[in-house]
Amino acid sequence: MSDRLTIPRPDDMHLHLRDGAMLAGVLPETARHFGRAIIMPNLVPPVVTMAEAQAYRARIMAALPKGADFTPLMTLYLTEGTDAADVAAAHSAGLIHAVKLYPAGATTNSHGGVRDITRVLPVLEKMAEIGLPLCIHGEVTDPDVDIFDREAVFIDTVLDPLRRRLPQLRVVMEHITTSQGVDYARTGGDSLAATITTHHLIINRNHILAGGIKPHYYCLPVAKRESHRLALRAAATSGEARFFLGTDSAPHIDALKEHACGCAGCFTATNTMPLLAHVFEEMGALDRLAGFTSRFGAAFYGLPVSGKTLTLTKSAAPTIWPEKLDTGAGPVTIFNPGFPVFWQVAD
Ligand code: DOR
Ligand code: ZN
Repeated sequence: MSDRLTIPRPDDMHLHLRDGAMLAGVLPETARHFGRAIIMPNLVPPVVTMAEAQAYRARIMAALPKGADFTPLMTLYLTEGTDAADVAAAHSAGLIHAVKLYPAGATTNSHGGVRDITRVLPVLEKMAEIGLPLCIHGEVTDPDVDIFDREAVFIDTVLDPLRRRLPQLRVVMEHITTSQGVDYARTGGDSLAATITTHHLIINRNHILAGGIKPHYYCLPVAKRESHRLALRAAATSGEARFFLGTDSAPHIDALKEHACGCAGCFTATNTMPLLAHVFEEMGALDRLAGFTSRFGAAFYGLPVSGKTLTLTKSAAPTIWPEKLDTGAGPVTIFNPGFPVFWQVAD
């Protein structure tokens, strides 16, 4: 068993950085270990236009610690008013790497998202033509559909019909949480991929609800039963290039997590790489970690694998992280896996 692993500098293909004081607080956590990240556009107000993405990118660059080696890969938030020409211009300028589809009402700051997918078809057709990926939050919002079924129902009623209609569209199924998501991702060719978060490899719904409600484990899509977590673990460690890391690290201040109507999101930017080393080692797949974190996402997005490296080491004593990250916006609880982790990122 190896206690030292060097991999190409990883990419986080799904990340929430927020803005202002929160951005300043959380960005160093990601930039410390990751060379690039796909930046989610669900700010308030959302990042809809090329000009807004340019301005947001500039704010991220300004918030980077001196000497940091980090490139934000910007996205646009798809609305029913999105202008296909603006999307195409942002893509040809090299500014954006994807467009994000939030079904309206599915999650945090998604009310400006898409209610009727037929209304965004002209934008999606343009994206298919130019090869720009669509990142999809794949959950239906119908209140009659059980929250644990919303991903599977979305695949059957929205995603599959969309892909049949526009087979050339490049699609990322974001943060899959079900065996149905794993199975569906496998039905696609090179135009279909799926991201998997760190926390969905670690928790199931019992961790959220049994023995008292744990608001810091609540995220969307909500963690499902154990059989789904096992399917996600098998997929992430399979070595299949269609599955790659998108942490969905989603900071909310504690006051809004520990609340009568708590926000969805797990903050994993600080400890994702050691947690993944733990999971991959448990699965006997440490040699596949580099594919999942550093190669497959880059390949899907047409980017070179990083020429830099990250080294993980394993110690006899557990790694201790602070319980919280203090940001100018307030404290953010760092994801606690609930078991000791012996891996750390070497300095
Ligand atoms: O848990 C989540 N948090 N899921 C999402 O889809 C959004 C994210 C956020 O922005 O807080
Ligand atoms: Zn997200």
